[in-house]
Amino acid sequence: MAPSALFIFVSVVLAPHVLAQSTLDFPATPLNQLSYPHPTDAPYQIYPPTGARYTRGPQTGYNICNSTTEGQSSMCQTMYINGLDDLCLWGPATANSLIANTEGEVIAHCAKTGYGTRIMQSGLVKGAQLLKTSEYWMITGIIDQTLINIQAGDNGGELDSGGQDGRGNPIGGLVYSTAWAKDNLPTQIQWWTEFIGNNQFCIKICNPDGKNEAGYCQHTLDRIGLGYNCPSKYTIDGGNIAEGDFEVCDSNLMTVPGIYVENGQTMSYEQPPEALGQIATIPYLPVAVASSNCQKFTSSALYTQMVTPTATSSASSSSASSTGGHTITSRTATATAASAMNTSANRSSSAMTMSSIFLPVIVAVAGVVGSMALLA
Ligand SMILES: *[C@@H]1O[C@H](CO)[C@@H](O)[C@H](O)[C@H]1NC(C)=O
Ligand SMILES: *[C@@H]1O[C@H](CO)[C@@H](O)[C@H](O)[C@H]1NC(C)=O
Ligand SMILES: *[C@@H]1O[C@H](CO)[C@@H](O)[C@H](O)[C@H]1NC(C)=O
Repeated sequence: MAPSALFIFVSVVLAPHVLAQSTLDFPATPLNQLSYPHPTDAPYQIYPPTGARYTRGPQTGYNICNSTTEGQSSMCQTMYINGLDDLCLWGPATANSLIANTEGEVIAHCAKTGYGTRIMQSGLVKGAQLLKTSEYWMITGIIDQTLINIQAGDNGGELDSGGQDGRGNPIGGLVYSTAWAKDNLPTQIQWWTEFIGNNQFCIKICNPDGKNEAGYCQHTLDRIGLGYNCPSKYTIDGGNIAEGDFEVCDSNLMTVPGIYVENGQTMSYEQPPEALGQIATIPYLPVAVASSNCQKFTSSALYTQMVTPTATSSASSSSASSTGGHTITSRTATATAASAMNTSANRSSSAMTMSSIFLPVIVAVAGVVGSMALLA
């Protein structure tokens, strides 16, 4: 099909679909502008059922979490990023889930007890790096994703405090941190983003008093994956990461994702709308910036409170390793293409942002033509 014919096909056939989805309703105040300075300021639910019909919601979990809610059936949607040893990740509530099907409902899984959440299962985090800057903290690492209820082979997606209707993914999810606390108590982080899938993760939280939360923790480049949004040795060097490598470093500031310099000119990349189909080219490569003062840790020193994996998750865990899906080198075209189909089949489009599949940087750069198939 000639490019112009393809364009007409896309416009005519897909336009009504896009129109229908642009009627997503937005709350009066989006999640990332709601202020609950400390966890105790949060309501039971930020988006409770109201009787009105919304495009998404109500919230499936809750934000008041305590010793009563703590444990492996917790539906707590308030989480903490206080350090490499004291972190939480959003993950599904039910074993063997796809992120694309659960992005609005994921819940907090934490390394430490005391927050009223589920507790991470031992073996979940296999290696990780925390990069600290004045503007953001970023943790990237490798995981056994079946231990956080994500189906083996799922390329996952992006979760953030925006979401297609401003209610966040998960809907009503709150993040707190002592990273920039003035009183040693965890304070609210309004701009955050998590990529999880492909046995990798990135979680980034932005300083509420920072200069550019919307830039460093932006929500609009979800389809180009964690390599572009969270450049680190875990996400763009590929292949040289040892399990058991844990470190905390000071870091230079990354370039705001999407901003790059070409022939001396500062350029800005915007992700094309999903209705236009696969992303064929990305005009730049992400760069992992310099870090310093790195301190190394062992998993056993960091993670003393994680729980023994349940039968369900260890069963799926062993099937994951038998299919070879557990290292960074598994980012192959075949694996990506398979789950990309499910992901896009179940996704609604949005002007703002939303969860998406990973576009592995290595594939995107090494084979633009090959990568087109991945986003089908
Ligand atoms: C503990 O959390 C539950 C669930 O959110 C809530 O109903 C209960 O009031 C909380 N208890 C205390 C003492 O805050
Ligand atoms: C799409 O998502 C819905 C609800 O989240 C789920 O019931 C359904 O099975 C999913 N479909 C596919 C093809 O995964
Ligand atoms: C696609 O979704 C179906 C139904 O939800 C599931 O059975 C299948 O395993 C999924 N395939 C992949 C590759 O994720």
